[in-house]
Amino acid sequence: MITKYTYGNPFQTDAVVQKLEVQNGDVPYFTVVKTEEQLQFEYTLENEEKVYGLGENVRGINKRGWIYKSCCADEPNHLEDRTSLYASHNFLVLDGGKEQFGVFFDYPGIITFDVGYTHLNELKITLSEPDADVYVMTGESILDIVKQFRQLIGRSYIPPKWAFGYQQSRWGYMNEADIREVVKGHREKKIPLESIYMDIDYMERFKDFTVNQERFPDFPEFVKEMKAQHIHLVPIIDAGVKVEEGYDVYEEGIEKGYFCKKENGEYFVAGVWPGKVHFPDVLNKEAREWFGNKYQVLLDQGIEGFWNDMNEPSIFFAQDRMDETFDKIAELKDKNLDLDTFQQFTGLVGSLANNTDDFKKFYHNVDGKMMRHDKVHNLFGYNMTRAAGEAFERLSPEKRILMFSRSSYIGMHRYGGIWTGDNKSWWNHLLLNLRMMPSLNMVGILYTGADIGGFGADATEDLVMRWTQLAMFSPLMRNHSAMGTREQEVYRFDHVEEFRKIINIRYGLLAYIYSEYMKSALNSEMYFKPLSFVYTDDEFASQVEDQLLVGDSLMIAPVYNQNAKGRYVYLPEEMAMLRFRGVDDYDTEILPAGHHYVGAGLFEMLVFVRPDKILVLTDGGECTDEVDCDHVKALAFVKTKAEYVWYEDDGMGKDYENPDNYGRMTIEKDGNCVYTGSREKKIEVKLL
Ligand code: GLC
Repeated sequence: MITKYTYGNPFQTDAVVQKLEVQNGDVPYFTVVKTEEQLQFEYTLENEEKVYGLGENVRGINKRGWIYKSCCADEPNHLEDRTSLYASHNFLVLDGGKEQFGVFFDYPGIITFDVGYTHLNELKITLSEPDADVYVMTGESILDIVKQFRQLIGRSYIPPKWAFGYQQSRWGYMNEADIREVVKGHREKKIPLESIYMDIDYMERFKDFTVNQERFPDFPEFVKEMKAQHIHLVPIIDAGVKVEEGYDVYEEGIEKGYFCKKENGEYFVAGVWPGKVHFPDVLNKEAREWFGNKYQVLLDQGIEGFWNDMNEPSIFFAQDRMDETFDKIAELKDKNLDLDTFQQFTGLVGSLANNTDDFKKFYHNVDGKMMRHDKVHNLFGYNMTRAAGEAFERLSPEKRILMFSRSSYIGMHRYGGIWTGDNKSWWNHLLLNLRMMPSLNMVGILYTGADIGGFGADATEDLVMRWTQLAMFSPLMRNHSAMGTREQEVYRFDHVEEFRKIINIRYGLLAYIYSEYMKSALNSEMYFKPLSFVYTDDEFASQVEDQLLVGDSLMIAPVYNQNAKGRYVYLPEEMAMLRFRGVDDYDTEILPAGHHYVGAGLFEMLVFVRPDKILVLTDGGECTDEVDCDHVKALAFVKTKAEYVWYEDDGMGKDYENPDNYGRMTIEKDGNCVYTGSREKKIEVKLL
């Protein structure tokens, strides 16, 4: 059951899609403290109570023991001491206390979640204004609460099937030749590859919706050339529009008044990649439509997917602050800089980038009313991606377009996925990647993944190998790295054949991963689940934060420590372990419930099939077009009778509700397999 409470006069974020009646009184469970300035919700945690949720954030699956702040930030250091990353996902589920419940604070400004930080047993949520819609959910289980919440916020974004292939990116591919080389590097070694990402250098001086003519002299032709090799090109779109006379997007935006303005009516000038930019006012409906229509320029050239970046929005400097800074530095120029004045000096430059005070310096035009940005800050990335998503519905109503964003708020999950931003080539970021996935799924973000191998810092071959083994299961499987770091395309390393075999497993798993993704999206369910959400009576399961359930049949336990030759695994029930080296190169073992140490060499990955569940496995391929999902092996761990509901469609269109998309498979103990569905299948049963 979901109940809605309204405080003050909340901004309509369009996070939820259901209209609920507002209840009288205060939200249950919490002590509510209202002042003119803010709203506070206080709750006493039981010792054993767990706090799940908060979407994209640092730290564990159980969020207890830290303070988190919803304030979308361009934060490239995903360290334990950070309080915000790129997103604002204000949804929590409390479990193990007096009552189990979920709560969503639909408020687009800054919120802090003190989850046992100030006092171990105190949860205190502070909204920086007294206006919010708060939704409280109760249900039969955590999964039931999450499902109700997901229904409240609407169906998750569905990408084209090719977006489940292996994707390669790097900030630094400058031109056609660079991209051709990377494609060749994969294709020559038969390493599967689906797409190449085009980072900011494809543009003409970082201007959105332009293509640099020198680097890509005949872009539509190049897109075709790539498509002939089954490669999709995915260009980046940045939030800031370059200020430059003669640049059509800039000129039009000025003419129509579609950029964010200051209080005095002048356009707000920020500095990002191109130097001075204006931000499209994506909270203004007309401006959003206008900006969304711009994607057409690239769609017309054959592009079928995009990534939206720097949309917190990231501000390297606000021009006004920069001007003041230069004045103040000039004042200090001839002074003897002592401790205080020197600190003042470094602080001046140091506080230019992403200064939250600048959020108070510009406005959005929402239905004719000027809204100061800081009050709706967390909605910018959401609405930039919504601009694209709404435009794709108009421009490409029949065909799915790939879209994911860096910044997000709940609601954006209907228009695109996210990648988890600028992580580092660190082993603990591999673990962070795993831990973030279920909380993202809780808020409807299903198409997601982290930069494989890490974005910043230098990667090593073993890190990329282990990370690839984890990312094998994330819907978005993309290797991406920053300019200036060690190149980490897998063919550059020594063990190319091992990488080829491992990445091919992804294509072997494609039928399963796609089916599980689609069922999760269509049924408002989680694709990645913590063990504790399923094995609810298992005391130990809630302490397991380095294994996940993936879809209906599998559990994964990736190796995330350097030089480890295996790892400890906890099995809440008996399972069949598969130790994969390649799609047809694996050994199997049935392991009883309990604690185990399991060997997994660098080129081996562990997958566990749950009792009475089935994993459908294809032979793989070099791209999704090559994968033959009609000839599969069904790996079944049968205790009484194993079952699988298999979703399939054409992977491009939007006929999601067609009952023909579902096939049903059962396998008996003797290996007898019955498949009913609208497609012809050749199924080879392998009993585990
Ligand atoms: C940001 C993005 C990163 C991208 C870079 C250059 O840091 O998060 O993925 O490569 O900008 O566009």
